[in-house]
Amino acid sequence: MTSTWSPSSWRSRPAAQQVTYPPSANLAKYLARLTALPPLVTSWEVEALKRQIAEAAMGRRFLLQGGDCAEQFDECAADTITAKLKILLQMSVILVDGARKPVIRVGRMAGQYAKPRSDDTETRDGVTLPSYRGELVNGSAFSAEERALDPRRLLRAYERSALTLNFTRALVRGGFANLHHPENWDLDFAQHSPLAEEYRAIARRVSGSLEFMENVLGVHTAEMEWVDFFTSHEGLHLEYETAQTRQVPRRAGYYNLSTHFPWIGMRTCDPEGAHVEYFRGIRNPVAVKTGHTMTPDTLVRLMDVLHPENEPGRLTLIHRFGNRRIADCLPRLIDAARSTGKTVLWCCDPMHGNTQLTEDGTKTRHFDDVRGELEQAFAIHQSCGSFLGGVHIELTGEDVTECLGGARNLTSDDLRRAYRSEVDPRLNYEQALEIAMLIARMMR
Ligand code: PEP
Ligand code: CO
Repeated sequence: MTSTWSPSSWRSRPAAQQVTYPPSANLAKYLARLTALPPLVTSWEVEALKRQIAEAAMGRRFLLQGGDCAEQFDECAADTITAKLKILLQMSVILVDGARKPVIRVGRMAGQYAKPRSDDTETRDGVTLPSYRGELVNGSAFSAEERALDPRRLLRAYERSALTLNFTRALVRGGFANLHHPENWDLDFAQHSPLAEEYRAIARRVSGSLEFMENVLGVHTAEMEWVDFFTSHEGLHLEYETAQTRQVPRRAGYYNLSTHFPWIGMRTCDPEGAHVEYFRGIRNPVAVKTGHTMTPDTLVRLMDVLHPENEPGRLTLIHRFGNRRIADCLPRLIDAARSTGKTVLWCCDPMHGNTQLTEDGTKTRHFDDVRGELEQAFAIHQSCGSFLGGVHIELTGEDVTECLGGARNLTSDDLRRAYRSEVDPRLNYEQALEIAMLIARMMR
């Protein structure tokens, strides 16, 4: 794979999980518009994140990446965005306190609109329609109109991403993310949570440490007061990603400027496939999801292609094996990565290997499996002479009931109450807070 790369050289490779728009839909017209619009992020933000990931890969930072499985156009609203930012900030404070190191905050947001599916079509009561592939491609409701592949959605997703990012940046810059005032991030419905007091104690400890550094040690914390916040999404829809791939003045190469940190999903990580070909040429830090089907040889090959220069911060490996499989699968991949002599950041996604169906067919995950996989991940890395440098979690700042268990021990009956995800089940606010406390304890 030494042929010349270009933003569209992926076209000569087999591309999994892509859609074929009807010619009448005029894809080219919408792609041209998208190409002419300004980028959503800048190359210097992307490079700043790469430097932070490089530090995480050396053990000096910890990566927290979280958000919805799939964002919805209708949920591009002030409350939803604020709640998501709040829970990520709260979790990061808990992790700072546990890890005793800075935390990199990355939202699965402002662009997480495309989903891989195992089947191209879905059949209900004898009617067959295209599968729902995320709002970037079609709608979730089961009607021919909603499920039609519509390239106008590419622009709507870009616009929703820009709105989300604009509001997020304004909140972060406007002092919302000031670490001296984590009490601003309390979520109303969480005030009666059994975890609220423990969280407040941690928050007081963190702002106390900041004050100590300022007042006693004379360290100026201006840089630490405002937390950086970055975005990520699965780089699945290659036409969309290509339209946002740009050169910038005074920097070499191409950047995907639709997000800071795109990742390759498990279903599209073939080293000879189109996604890996596209990703190998962009300058962003990139991640790859690795599941139980990833062999050591394939991982080495992937690292060859995606991480040829061993550039610091370039490659994150997000393993997602499931609580039952991680002990079997992870050690050999750690060995394989080490055999390349290159540095990667290891991150654990304890969600996607733990999906199960309830008796009535609802997709869920049990909190105990999520916790179990994380506990094993920390222990296995340690016993293999490696370390876990980050977590990747599907969560929401809202009071949904999609995952079982946790402090309130949600049961399958509870799932009916507030199940809102269109795709995968997310940890709700309390479950996310609880998992952060558990991770902090594991790191302490
Ligand atoms: C996801 O992150 O929503 C996803 C589809 O993950 P994976 O590629 O690991 O299955
Ligand atoms: Co998911």
